[in-house]
Amino acid sequence: MGPAQARADEDRSLTAIVPGYLHTWSTGRRTWTDRGAELSVVHAPYGLDRWQGFGLLGQLQRHDEGIRAAVAAEVFYSAFGLEAGWAVRTSADGAQHGLHLAPFFSVGFLSVALRTTFALGSGSGTGNEVGLALGLKLPIPVQGWRGIYLPGRNVVGGRPLRGPAGEPLLPSACDGRRRGEAHDSRRWIEQARLEQASVDSFLWLADDLDAHGAPAPLVERALAAAAEEREHARVSLGFAGRDARLAAAPRRRGTRRRPTLQQLYEEAVLDGVLGEGRAAIALANEARRQPLRAAALARMAAEEASHAQLSAAVAAFVATHPSVGFPVA
Ligand SMILES: [Fe+2]
Ligand SMILES: [Fe+2]
Repeated sequence: MGPAQARADEDRSLTAIVPGYLHTWSTGRRTWTDRGAELSVVHAPYGLDRWQGFGLLGQLQRHDEGIRAAVAAEVFYSAFGLEAGWAVRTSADGAQHGLHLAPFFSVGFLSVALRTTFALGSGSGTGNEVGLALGLKLPIPVQGWRGIYLPGRNVVGGRPLRGPAGEPLLPSACDGRRRGEAHDSRRWIEQARLEQASVDSFLWLADDLDAHGAPAPLVERALAAAAEEREHARVSLGFAGRDARLAAAPRRRGTRRRPTLQQLYEEAVLDGVLGEGRAAIALANEARRQPLRAAALARMAAEEASHAQLSAAVAAFVATHPSVGFPVA
C-alpha cells in the first residue's frame, strides 16, 4: 500500500463544488428578505487535515422588489472566513452596484455570515445594507489535487482491508510523537496503519483466489504481497519514531463473507489497480523529496507498483473465468 497515500503532503488537497441555499435578512433603506442560491468552488491545499483555503462564489437572490447578485472571492481558515467582491441590487429605485463584504462562520453544512453591501456611486438605490445570511451548503468533492474521488467509494492509496459494508478497517496505533516531530511522525503512523491493513487484505485475497480456483502462482503472488506489506508497515513505523507501535489488528474474521467473482473484480480494479498504483506514484514522489529515505521509499514504490500489476492479473483472471456472467467492458 502506499504511504503517501492520502497522507503525503502532495496528496491531501481537496477541491469541492459547493451548491447551497441562501437566506438573508438585510436592512438599509429598506428591510427585506433575500432568498436564493449560491454556488462556490473551494480549494483547500491541505484538505481535511488542515481546513484552510480559498474559493470563488456566485450568489443570486430574489427579494420583494428585485434581485441581488454577487460574485466574490473567499478565504477561509478553520471555521472562519471572509468573502469580498461585487454586488448589484435592483429595486423599485433602480439598479445599484456595491461592494460585497461578508465575514462568515461555517460548520459542516451550515454557514452564517454578516453580509454588508456598501453602495458604490451616488444616486438612488438600496443604499448601504447590512444583513444576516444563513447558508445551507452541500460540498461535493470533485478532485483532490492528485487524488481521485469516486461517488460512494473511498479510493485510498494501497489496498485497504474492507469491512462488510466496504468501509476501510485500520488497526489502532499509539504514536511516539515528541515535540517538533509531531507532523511527520503522525503521518508515518497513519501510513503504518494502512500498510498493516494491506497485510490482511492480501492474505484474504490469497484465500479468496484459492477458493475461486485461481492458478497457484496468482495465489502465491498475493501471499508474497502480504509479506511485502508487512515490511512496509515495519519501515513506516521506523520512520514514525522509536515509540510508535501498532496496537490491535482490525477484527474481521467473524464478520467476513466470501466475495463473489464480481466483487473480487471490482476490488482488484478499485483497490488494487487504482489504490496501489496511486500509492506507488506517491511513494516515488516522496522518495525524491527525502534523500535520506530514498532507497527504502523507492523500494516500497516498486513493490506497490507490482501490487497494482498483481491486481490487474486478478482482474484478468476473473474476466476470463468460465463462470463469469457479467459483462466486462
Ligand atoms: Fe504497501
Ligand atoms: Fe501495496
